[in-house]
Amino acid sequence: MLEKVIPIRIDEGKGLTPSISAPLIEPHGHTQDARGRTLRDLRISVTDRCNFRCTYCMPKEVFDQNYPYLSHKELLSFEEITRLTSIFSTLGVEKIRLTGGEPLLRKNLEILIEMLSRVRTPEGKPLDLTLTTNGSILRKKAAALKAAGLQRLTVSLDGLNDTIFKKMNDVDFPVADVLDGIKAAQEAGFENIKVNMVVKKGTNDQEIVPMAQHFKASGVILRFIEFMDVGSSNGWNMAEVLPSQEVIARINEVFPLESAQANYSGEVAQRWRYADGSGEIGVISSVTQTFCHECTRARISTDGQMYLCLFANEGFDFKTLLRSGKSDLEIANAVMNTWALRDDHYSEIRGSHTAKPSTGNRKVEMSYIGG
Ligand code: GTP
Ligand code: 5AD
Ligand code: SF4
Ligand code: SF4
Repeated sequence: MLEKVIPIRIDEGKGLTPSISAPLIEPHGHTQDARGRTLRDLRISVTDRCNFRCTYCMPKEVFDQNYPYLSHKELLSFEEITRLTSIFSTLGVEKIRLTGGEPLLRKNLEILIEMLSRVRTPEGKPLDLTLTTNGSILRKKAAALKAAGLQRLTVSLDGLNDTIFKKMNDVDFPVADVLDGIKAAQEAGFENIKVNMVVKKGTNDQEIVPMAQHFKASGVILRFIEFMDVGSSNGWNMAEVLPSQEVIARINEVFPLESAQANYSGEVAQRWRYADGSGEIGVISSVTQTFCHECTRARISTDGQMYLCLFANEGFDFKTLLRSGKSDLEIANAVMNTWALRDDHYSEIRGSHTAKPSTGNRKVEMSYIGG
C-alpha cells in the first residue's frame, strides 16, 4: 500500500536564492561543479500534469483530483523559458530536453519549440532540441513539432502487451495508440526516435524480448531503464529492479549483441549493437551502474526552480530572479554560482533497500522536476 503524501513542491519564493555576484570564470568560459563536472545539458519541465498515471512516476493514490498541481501563473512563460535557455547556452549548454509531466499537454508547445529553435550557442550553432513524451497525442502533434524545429523525440512505452501496458500506465491507455504516435512521428520526418521502457521486475519484464524484437531493424532505438526511487511516492524497492545486465543477457540469448562505444562522454545509456547489423539498443542503469561522476545535467522545474540532481530535495529559485528585473549577466552569474557549488551524486550513495535518501529528506517528484 502506498503512503498518501503530498509530494514536495517549492512554493513561490521558498526555493534557495542563488547568488548573482560575479563568479570566478574559468579560461574556457565553462563552469565546473565541485566534482569537476561541466554543465552541458538542460532539462526543462513544461508542465507537472500528465494524462497517464504510471505507477512508478505518478501513482493514482497520490496524484488524484486533490493533488495541488501548479496554476498557470506559477509556470514559467515561453518567454522566460527561452530567455533562460539563451542564458544557459552562453554557459556551455548545447542540449535542451523538454519534459513534464507530459510536455505535449502544455498549450501551444510548438510555439515554444519555434522560439527555442532560434537560440544559438556562442559559436552560432543551434541547440540539440528534443523532447520526452508518452506518445498519447503524438499523432495529432507530430507534424507541428517537426515544422517548429524539434530535432529529436523520445517516446515512453513499457510493453507491447495491452494488459501489461495498461497496468503500467494505469489509465487504460492502449499500446496501439502509442505505436501509432511513433508512426506519425516517422511520417512527419523525425529520423532520430528513441523509445524508453522502464523495467519493473515481476510487472513488465516479460516484455523485454518482445519489445526488442518489435523495434529491431525499425530505426527506432529502444532503451531499457532500471526502475528508480525518484520522488517519495512510487513505493520503490530494490526487489523490483531488474539489473540491466540481466536485460542484456535475456536479449543476447535470442538476438546476439555486442557492446558499442558511447556517442559522447556522459551519455546516460550504454549502447549495444545487434550482431546482425539491424540496429542498436541501450540500457540506463541508474541503480546498478551509476553514472553520477559524469553527470552534466541541470533541471528546471515547471515553476522555474533549478535542480542540480534528479533526486534533490531543494531547488534554486530562478523564477523570482527572472521576475525581479535582473539582467542576463546577473542571471548567468547565478547559474554559474549555483552550478559551482554542486556536489550531488545521489545514485552513488542511495541505500540499497530504501526509497529514502540517506539524509531522510523527501525528494521532489519526477513529474515536477522532469525526467
Ligand atoms: P539522449 O539525449 O538521447 O542521449 O537522451 P538521454 O540519454 O539524456 O536520455 P533521456 O533523457 O531519454 O533519459 C532517459 C531516462 O534516463 C530518464 O527518463 C531518466 O529515467 C534517466 N535519466 C536521465 N538522466 C538521468 C540522470 O541524470 N540521473 C538519473 N539517475 N537518471 C537519469
Ligand atoms: N524510474 C525510472 N524511470 C522513470 N521515469 C519516470 N519515473 C521513473 C522511475 N521511477 C522516466 C521514464 C519515462 C520518463 C518520462 O521518465 O523514462 O519514460
Ligand atoms: Fe506521465 Fe511520463 Fe510520468 Fe508516465 S512516466 S506518469 S507518462 S510523466
Ligand atoms: Fe546526476 Fe543526480 Fe542522476 Fe547522479 S543521481 S546522475 S548526480 S541526476
